[in-house]
Parts: sequence; C-alpha cells; structure tokens
Amino acid sequence: MSFYDPTKIEVLYDAASIEARCRQLGAQITADYQGRGELALVGVLRGSFPFIADLVRHIDLPIEIDFLGLSSYGERTESSGIVRMTQDLSEPVRGKHVLVVEDIVDTGLTMKYLLANLQTREPASVRVATLLHKPEGQRVEVPIDYIGFTIPNRFVVGYGLDFAGKLRNLPFIGVVVGDEPVPGLRL
Ligand code: IMP
Ligand code: MG
Repeated sequence: MSFYDPTKIEVLYDAASIEARCRQLGAQITADYQGRGELALVGVLRGSFPFIADLVRHIDLPIEIDFLGLSSYGERTESSGIVRMTQDLSEPVRGKHVLVVEDIVDTGLTMKYLLANLQTREPASVRVATLLHKPEGQRVEVPIDYIGFTIPNRFVVGYGLDFAGKLRNLPFIGVVVGDEPVPGLRL
C-alpha cells in the first residue's frame, strides 16, 4: 500500500538510475572544477532538494551549498513565465564559481530570470546543472552545462517535482498517466 495510486504514475527513472546518474555527474563536476577556486552550489527551491542532496555527495571538492527559492505564478502544468523570488541566497556569490542546481528546465523562462539575477552579483562564473531537460518545451535559449536526463514533453513528478504541491517525496521520477494519482488530488 502507498499513498498514491501506482497505476496512475508510470516510472520513468527509478531510484537506482537516478543514483547512478548523480554519481556520473558528480564525477564530471569534480573533474571540471578541480583547482578552479571557490565553488558554490546554488539549489533552486523547492524542486531541487533531493537532486542537490544526492549530487553533492558525489562531488569530491570543498564546495559551499546555498539555496534560493523561485516560483512561477500559477498552479497549472505549464510555466507562466512570470517568476518570483520567494527566498534569496544566504551569502554573496561575488568572485565565486556558481553552479546552479535545478530540478527541470522546461520553457527556460525560470532559468533565464535566475541567470540574469545572478550575473548582477558578479560571480567568477555561472554554470547550470539540471536533473531534467525538456527540449521540446523550450521557449528561450539558456545555457545548460550538466543534464541528468533529457525527457519528452510530459508532466513529470517525484524526486522533488510536484503535482499540485504533492508527490515531491516519491523516490523515483514518474509521469502521471491518470486523473487523481492521489485520491482527491487534482491540478
Ligand atoms: P520553466 O520556467 O518552464 O523552464 O520551468 C521551470 C519550473 O517549472 C521548474 O523549476 C519546475 O518547478 C516547473 N516544472 C516544469 N515542468 C515540470 C514538470 O514536468 N513537473 C513538475 N514541475 C515542472
Ligand atoms: Mg523548480
């Protein structure tokens, strides 16, 4: 028994596949930033929390970790493009190498907003790591340096990604294939 209906959520990437990909990305990031000076990972709340937690444990460098919160207006499955900062970084990133860690890049509007915002703080460099990328949804060009998985234009949930505020705690990434994946939960 579980709180969700497993017939309404199709598993796209299971926990073992996600773990394996985090290990690979961590090794790549470690190699790329070796000897390059201060590295701060910036996790975008709320969706990136499982990804950043797993990723950092595979980065063999003396990194710092900070978070900021972003929210697109609207509750539906499509990004409105109007982005709001709900929580700022705790510390300045001036002179540091910044690696933004995001759950998913879809239209790119959220990332575009964030990158413009970060640039004003004069970091040494900014790169982007995203767990998921939906290239078919892209509306604006944004540079992405590390991609966990490239996925089709479907609404995904779990491992940080929500459906009407819920399902972030699923240990896998899934696609909702039916109405009400949790009794009473609708978009
Ligand atoms: P973008 O601005 O369209 O690139 O979308 C960015 C944000 O929309 C992400 O950080 C997510 O919070 C949310 N999002 C986009 N696609 C999905 C999805 O398939 N499932 C859950 N959230 C999504
Ligand atoms: Mg997000």
